[in-house]
Amino acid sequence: MITAVYPGSFDPATYGHLDIIKRASISFDRVIVGVLHNSAKSPLFSVEERVKILKEATKDLPNVQIDSFSGLLVDYAREKDLHVIVRGLRAITDFEYELQMAQTNRMLSHGKIDTVFLTTSLEYAYLSSSAIKQIASFDGDITPCVPDFVADLIYDKYRQKKLSENSDV
Ligand code: PNS
Repeated sequence: MITAVYPGSFDPATYGHLDIIKRASISFDRVIVGVLHNSAKSPLFSVEERVKILKEATKDLPNVQIDSFSGLLVDYAREKDLHVIVRGLRAITDFEYELQMAQTNRMLSHGKIDTVFLTTSLEYAYLSSSAIKQIASFDGDITPCVPDFVADLIYDKYRQKKLSENSDV
């Protein structure tokens, strides 16, 4: 039985991420989506919110589990006895960063953890969480990029941000 871990920031999960999760759930017996709890970054959604979004969006995939981790991915993988990392590759621009991460994780795990890349489906190749957040912050249409309930949550966040900015003035 092979369990793969699909790590990421998922701030928030997009249709591109969900496509990778769905396809990984077909290729592997079990997939753990690992949401990075990174205190150095200031994400739009808390780690708890990101986990909740992913749980809702993957509720129809019985072999997918959502979890969060902090620190090194290889330490989390070792703790859970996982040997395969899944990452999505959108374009050649992702390659350098992904190659570096894959090789670093292989070195840190003494060759025990490998990374498998799934190429993002063409219709989602342009998507990124940062672009989606930027579009939403200017009230642009993000409904082709994320499930409707996620779009509502993103718009709500920016509405709250604008309200608190206005009340500070
Ligand atoms: O969605 P992202 O932000 O591209 O995901 C990046 C992630 C979470 C996979 C990567 O930053 C990570 O694994 N961070 C944990 C720290 C770590 O293990 N670093 C060493 C590998 S370079």
